[in-house]
Amino acid sequence: MSAASKTNMSNETAELQVQGKSIELPVVVGSEGEVGIDISRLRAETRAVTIDNGFVNTASCFSGVTFLNGEEGVLKYRGYAIEELAEKSNFIEVAYLLIYGELPTITQLARFESSIKAGQETPEQVKQQIKLFPKDAHPMGVLSACLSSLSAYYPELLDQDLSADKKDRIIGQLVAQVRNLSAYFYRASQGKDFVNSDANLDYCTDFLNMMFEGQGKIDPEVAKALNVLLILHADHEQNCSASTVRLVGSSKANLYASISAGVGALWGPLHGGANQAVIEMLQEIDKDGGDYKKFLDKAKDKNDSFRLMGFGHRVYKNFDPRARIIKKACDTVLTKLDIKDPLLDIAKGLEEEALKDPYFVDRKLYPNVDFYSGIIYKALNIPTNMFTVMFALGRMPGWIAQWKEMIESPSMKIGRPRQIYTGETDLEYQAISDRK
Ligand code: CMC
Repeated sequence: MSAASKTNMSNETAELQVQGKSIELPVVVGSEGEVGIDISRLRAETRAVTIDNGFVNTASCFSGVTFLNGEEGVLKYRGYAIEELAEKSNFIEVAYLLIYGELPTITQLARFESSIKAGQETPEQVKQQIKLFPKDAHPMGVLSACLSSLSAYYPELLDQDLSADKKDRIIGQLVAQVRNLSAYFYRASQGKDFVNSDANLDYCTDFLNMMFEGQGKIDPEVAKALNVLLILHADHEQNCSASTVRLVGSSKANLYASISAGVGALWGPLHGGANQAVIEMLQEIDKDGGDYKKFLDKAKDKNDSFRLMGFGHRVYKNFDPRARIIKKACDTVLTKLDIKDPLLDIAKGLEEEALKDPYFVDRKLYPNVDFYSGIIYKALNIPTNMFTVMFALGRMPGWIAQWKEMIESPSMKIGRPRQIYTGETDLEYQAISDRK
């Protein structure tokens, strides 16, 4: 059943009057009860458009992939609560769930794993390309460039109408390649040889092995922690990067181009780049003697552009369920690995203080997914500039699921917003010699 067909057209309508014209707009209700006003006929009937800075009030699509209720701190993938998936599932099973819509049977999972293995060979030229980047290049730029480069080596996967078989191939390949490209560039940046993927290892252990040449010695606790982090990052409905993937894909650009653009969107510090910014902020507080109150004051000062990184969310206005799980995992991982990180104490102190402060309380600003994740990545020896790449590694199935849902929808349309023009009108051209 498609996402749109699980939507009820309610009997209710919303009436809008604009410039002397009146229009009855259908009201739609989603499967979890959210209400939307369908304005698709608005411009045709009234010549008016809506304006919604930052899309705060705009649903860009019908989707059956991920549900989140920001008021109550609920997050579900395909109907399954994130807490249960983080506890009982594994990343590859969750990837299948998101992309194909249901938990896999043993046979379906085996087929999916085979498609990942089948797509794990990185073209030799792309491996060379990775070695040519400056060692201190930001890995998100490298990842985006290399994902786009992959399109050059698989022209048969650029068809406008991908068969189901080709679609499965490109999906398995992208899940494999985001792991390879990330680990390869880390190795190159360290001046070390690449470690190839080992088909006998599970996805997370394999990635860690490719990063750190574990030679079978990757701590299962470390792989387990990574598994949980990747599950928690796997999708988050119509966020900035998923919307980017959909927007680029809506022009029927190929999946590599769409995902590469999504990586660019994720890189920004207001989105996935926040996980790197959080650790850098905590390190700065630590270096400054641990006085986090000073940093809270800076965050509240409207004349200072500083924001408390890892705090606040467009949708969550009570708590971010992912942050709760990660905070707990942080304690568990650090205890199990016997690591004492002063940054964890600073983060906890900062959170406690912020949650009492009227500035944060009034604006409903809570720790988000990025607040504690970096402390775990740090404990796993992932370098700070790779944190957002770890987010991308986790988010790959979500991007693919959002793209797949969109291109398979019979009502897909190119994404093309309108604007309200505010520029000059009716100027007359002047020769350059006459201009002042
Ligand atoms: N520190 C200080 N003030 C903040 C913060 C913060 N982290 N976040 C929001 N505010 C204030 C903001 O200044 C504004 O105040 P006022 O009403 O007085 O003008 C109010 O809270 C509402 O903020 P907003 O910018 O209108 O909210 P938004 O929904 O547009 O932005 C956000 C959401 C996540 C971009 C923002 O909270 C932020 O910049 N947070 C820090 C960056 C961060 O942690 N990003 C990761 C987000 S979660 C993971 C992901 O999406 O990838």
